[in-house]
Amino acid sequence: MFLLKEKQIEELNKKILDEHKDKEIVLGNGSINSAIVLIGEAPGAKEVEEKLPFVGQAGKHLEEFLNILELDRGELYITNTVKFRPTRKSSKTGREINRAPSKKEIEDFKEYLFDEIDIIKPKVIVTLGNVPLKTMMSNENNKIGELHGKNIKVNIKNKEYDLFPLYHPAAVIYRRELKEVYIDDLKKLKKFKESTLKD
Ligand code: URA
Repeated sequence: MFLLKEKQIEELNKKILDEHKDKEIVLGNGSINSAIVLIGEAPGAKEVEEKLPFVGQAGKHLEEFLNILELDRGELYITNTVKFRPTRKSSKTGREINRAPSKKEIEDFKEYLFDEIDIIKPKVIVTLGNVPLKTMMSNENNKIGELHGKNIKVNIKNKEYDLFPLYHPAAVIYRRELKEVYIDDLKKLKKFKESTLKD
């Protein structure tokens, strides 16, 4: 069973890399037996450099997240909706800067994400921000501002999962007023985790 899962994720990762040879791909990382899958938006420059999700600035805030949940990074599986860094040229500096992934890019990577979830079959899916939330719910109209901190059921590849949407840690950096809400949501998630993952 364990080996089978490992083999499945290996094959999926190989497929993602093979089908995007023109891009610097950052694959999911962590325990494939984890009960919690954490989904971000897309890797940034640091993530591409280290080929690991959430190691840059947003990764620092992930530590706070993990402290509140009393979890180690190794206990999670962490991945992104889009597995390359979407960039544009800054008109001010001429440098490559991050941009939000387009609808097409999200659509192109959606099936991989669903396959990842179907292989890992976590008990809880935690989305960070609007991009993974909308992708998981296959619905553009769902907004993080309304759904954060709530437990929602989603169906992925004919299996029901508990989804717990959170604000993206980067949004919390830019919008300081969200900090308290974010910490509150994390506490709710901790309670939810303790009641769901008891067994
Ligand atoms: N780093 C990631 O890997 N994903 C994000 O969504 C943000 C930063």
